[in-house]
Order: sequence, then C-alpha cells, then structure tokens
Amino acid sequence: MEAKVHECGQMTEKEQYSLLEQSIKDFEYREDNLIQILHMAQAIFGYLPAEVQKFIAEKMDISLSHVSGVVTFYSFFSTQPKGKYKIQICLGTACYVRGGKKIVDALKDELGIDIAETTPDRKFSLEVMRCIGACGLAPAISINDQVYKRVNPKKIHEILSQYE
Ligand code: FES
Repeated sequence: MEAKVHECGQMTEKEQYSLLEQSIKDFEYREDNLIQILHMAQAIFGYLPAEVQKFIAEKMDISLSHVSGVVTFYSFFSTQPKGKYKIQICLGTACYVRGGKKIVDALKDELGIDIAETTPDRKFSLEVMRCIGACGLAPAISINDQVYKRVNPKKIHEILSQYE
C-alpha cells in the first residue's frame, strides 16, 4: 500500500503524531508493514527518537524491543536528529586511497562530533558514503547537494564556513 509523504516542516508535534497514527492505520497495523511505517515516521519527524518508537509499538501492539531492533538493524533509520547540512564523506576506494580518512579526521576535529552524529546546534551531521561519483577528483565530500572535489584537510574550515 502506498502512503502519501507529506511536507511536514511546519507541523506541530500533535499534528505529527496524528499523521503517524493515520499512517499506521493506513498500513493496517500490520507487523509486516513495520519498515514502511518506520519510513513514514522518519519522514514525519526527521528521525526516530525513543518516544516515537514507543508510540508505534503501542499503536501496533508489538513490543518496543522489536521496533528498536528493526530501527537499529537498518542503517537508513536514525535515532538522532539530522543536521541542517548533511555532510557525506566518500570512503570509496579512490577517495580512501587519496586521503579520505584524513578528511574524516579533519571533519571530526572541526565539528567535534563522530560519524553518524549531529552537532549540538543541529547544523551539521556527518556520514560516510561509498562513492559519490567524483572518483577522478578524489577525495570528495558532499554537503547536501553540493559536491566538493579534491578536498584536503586544510580546506575543511573554509568549506564549512560557507554554511550558515
Ligand atoms: S570513490 Fe569517492 S567519489 Fe568515487
């Protein structure tokens, strides 16, 4: 069953929960639709905090540990809010051999967070990727839709300073 993805930027928390409840209903409370329901929940809330997982477990009458198990198993689900800017560091072969790991370290130092984390001001989140299609100009990173090629650790501060 197809459920509509809504534009949820302006929703109140109450509206978010009521949309989630409607989605669970649309998916007929069925456990075999749990992954789709979690996708909907992540689209609505931006991530899957413990209280959202608990809400889903209660509405579907399944255990919270089952819901949490599915959330932690799949890397496309996140229990942390994402930053306004999503930084993806390529660690595909070309980028890795051309210093991708140093870019990871430079970004971690600059932002004071680890991979899969978000800065406390929710500005940046950090992820690693396998190839973003710029192998000839490795190492590469992307920030939202912008790709930066031939990045070196010294350029990191300058690149990030363009984002407000
Ligand atoms: S391996 Fe990094 S862009 Fe392809």
